[in-house]
Amino acid sequence: MNEPIPQLSSYDEPSLDAAFATLAEEVRSETSAPHDAEVFRLRWLSRKQGRLKLVSDAWLKSAPSEARKPLGLRFNQLKQQIEAVLADAAASPAVPAAKVGIDITLPGSVRAPGIPHPLLKTMQEIVAVFHRLGYSTALGPQVETDFYNFEALNFPPNHPARDTQDTLVVAGQQSRPSRDRLLMRTHTSPVQIRTMVAQAPPVRIVVPGKVHRNDAADATHSPVFHQVEGLCVDTNITFSDLKGTLDHAMKALFGSSVKTRFFPSFFPFTEPSADVQISCIFCAGKGCRKCKHSGWIELLGCGMVDPAVFASVTAERRKTNPADDAYNPERVTGFAFGMGVERIAMVQHGTSEIGHFYSGDMRFLEQFA
Ligand code: PHE
Repeated sequence: MNEPIPQLSSYDEPSLDAAFATLAEEVRSETSAPHDAEVFRLRWLSRKQGRLKLVSDAWLKSAPSEARKPLGLRFNQLKQQIEAVLADAAASPAVPAAKVGIDITLPGSVRAPGIPHPLLKTMQEIVAVFHRLGYSTALGPQVETDFYNFEALNFPPNHPARDTQDTLVVAGQQSRPSRDRLLMRTHTSPVQIRTMVAQAPPVRIVVPGKVHRNDAADATHSPVFHQVEGLCVDTNITFSDLKGTLDHAMKALFGSSVKTRFFPSFFPFTEPSADVQISCIFCAGKGCRKCKHSGWIELLGCGMVDPAVFASVTAERRKTNPADDAYNPERVTGFAFGMGVERIAMVQHGTSEIGHFYSGDMRFLEQFA
């Protein structure tokens, strides 16, 4: 900001000399220290707020006619002094910014390093638990065919079991055979089929990925969410192996004091099927609002691979190798499980709004830094 110009006490010549001497001294002291020529120019010559304009407004305009000449003379001298300074500055190279009052020892603006998104972090944690058990990661497409998403998993066309997974379908598929019609995968289970068609047992895979359902968004649902699937097929795989594996995984994710329990359930591609619950980590099983006073939190679905699934896999494999018998249910058995990443992350962090994970609100995300 410009400070006010000096007061002029009278228009006699000694007063004019004194007033202009103050301004001339101001110009000298400003230009003897390192300075920015453009800042200086604006300070003195700016048409609206420059100091010369202020002098002209305050002193010249109200000057009695006999004072105009001596005042004008001194005004022009001051202006010449300023222009000479500017001409000098234009002739000599610019003063580096560091010399015109920018303190280069001040700390710069710090950009915080990025962090994995909390959902990705949870997904990686789950996958890592199974990697340590010897599982490897398998992936599959999000745009899937009816065959892999449903038919091979023992959901026949038009069967009511399909109603449990309200599906987003790709438009314009009516002319295709039903098994080739495209849809957004409703679960990661189609990767079970893709993997078994491509490779003989033993199979131990985890499948992290995005899935889609035609569900309205609410506090616990989103039409796009994430799952981690697991599949283990080998000789002599039993329900005890399934229980031991998932009990270990839940303890690894939620702490060694959690208990697990298996409840009868139904999935077309596993038989028997179960829902897995863990003892409530908020109240240690005593009963609270988070576990709806039951002491248990339901986390995932699982079961023994249904022989009908092995039959679809075998039919596929025999298209390239008619003698294939790798998935003969007399020789191999297996288990599968599928868990919702959002659901697990919400329990881990005590979040009751799924939408926080998608909002991009830094106040939420920064808590995971
Ligand atoms: N795919 C099932 C679902 O999304 C979960 C599941 C996977 C159940 C594997 C059993 C075995 O609901």
